[in-house]
Amino acid sequence: MIFRHSLHIQTVNVVIEAFPNPRSVSSLDVLLNDVKVGTIVRTPGDFNAFSFEDSYRATGGVPVVSLSFRAVGGGLRKDPKPVPRALPAFFANLLPEDKLREAMEKHHAGSVRAGNDFDLLVALGADLPGAVRVVPGDGTVARLDDMPSPKPKARFSLAGVQMKLSVIKNTGKGGGLTLPLGDEQGSYIAKFPSTSFPAVSENEYANLALADAIGMEVPERELVEQSEFEGIPKEFETLSDGKVLLVKRFDRGTNGERIHIEDFAQVFGVNPSRKYEGAAYHDIAAALNVAVSSAAALECVRRLALAALTGNGDMHLKNWSLIYRGAGDKPDLAPVYDVLSTIPYISADAMALSLAGERPFKALNVQRWKAFANRARLPEAAVLNAVVDTVERVDKFWWSLPEREVIPAKVRERIDAHIRMMTPILGTCAN
Ligand SMILES: Nc1ncnc2c1ncn2[C@@H]1O[C@H](COP(=O)(O)OP(=O)(O)OP(=O)(O)O)[C@@H](O)[C@H]1O
Ligand SMILES: [Mg+2]
Repeated sequence: MIFRHSLHIQTVNVVIEAFPNPRSVSSLDVLLNDVKVGTIVRTPGDFNAFSFEDSYRATGGVPVVSLSFRAVGGGLRKDPKPVPRALPAFFANLLPEDKLREAMEKHHAGSVRAGNDFDLLVALGADLPGAVRVVPGDGTVARLDDMPSPKPKARFSLAGVQMKLSVIKNTGKGGGLTLPLGDEQGSYIAKFPSTSFPAVSENEYANLALADAIGMEVPERELVEQSEFEGIPKEFETLSDGKVLLVKRFDRGTNGERIHIEDFAQVFGVNPSRKYEGAAYHDIAAALNVAVSSAAALECVRRLALAALTGNGDMHLKNWSLIYRGAGDKPDLAPVYDVLSTIPYISADAMALSLAGERPFKALNVQRWKAFANRARLPEAAVLNAVVDTVERVDKFWWSLPEREVIPAKVRERIDAHIRMMTPILGTCAN
């Protein structure tokens, strides 16, 4: 897709005058949209404790912050245990990981200590995934004189390891993409290419198009030239060439309103470092079946079949989310995101989580799906149907999908070979 106007990354958030040094903050208010739901307190021994607000407890926990906080019989569970040096899992999962985290720590150097979750949450808490905001509490003494420099800073947080920025797409005269200023929120995620994975943007772009073509809910996206961005702070620059994937954020509404989401590491109360092992796929499907609907659980099965077919070994706990639209009392399965074929880059790759005890793509025959159905407490026939239907749809759309042409031949051939190899294996579900 051709992006007609030039893109400009200008300067970044300018809330600096009102922004305290994270090191001097010891208490944070947790808001869900404008409702205060609780407080995070950092104790002198560097323990971080989260506790719910009484007024929020009195609502029984609506709107919902996270299923992980809900008791089986309804209402809220006890407050989570204080954690030494890190944040309770729900909040730790709101922070950027790896490269983006390092870049943010560098960007906020002097006020955010490397590896300190609480400091980072203070710096980024006003622009988190979903509708949660974490802002310095009333008792905080802002020591503005501690600020090393008055330069405006970027203050958005997105999880994941790839270098990415939350950006605004300007319409009208001039157009272009800019980082959010002041109270503005980015409505798009710009994912930058990687030196380790050639054509990763094109790969994900085509995979998102495939998911869309076979009837899944997929955000709008386009490929844009990296050379068209301007003024990205140098900590965020990637040294690799190639296009940038721009994806519309489903956790921001048309008027910039926040729509709450939580990923499945948050749903299961698992730390981000355990996103490849904290649960199995049948746990996700079972949770969807109970908390959303059997249709959502079967949509999960379709996404799993698609991942197996396309050789996507990265569908870990943070690549599945719930979305709370409307009153925020009931979740839905969030749209598809972060889908790409990892098989061209890691030829021995396997599913990111275990599917009925197995991860290798080749092991995913009818026996595995039956065992999976059992563990997820889903009807076997419905699961097998969802797999077969996904295989048929991919076969119908992939080979003539216009977006597949953007993937360089060398990468595309490996994806094609994997789909050809997997089609008969998943096809065993038809008998
Ligand atoms: N379209 C979207 N709308 C809202 N939030 C999104 C969207 N796409 C991604 N996210 C959020 O941003 C995070 C990072 O995005 P994404 O998973 O695409 O990045 P990544 O760096 O490729 O991740 P990974 O570490 O899995 O490789 C996701 O975990 C999710 O919370
Ligand atoms: Mg991801």
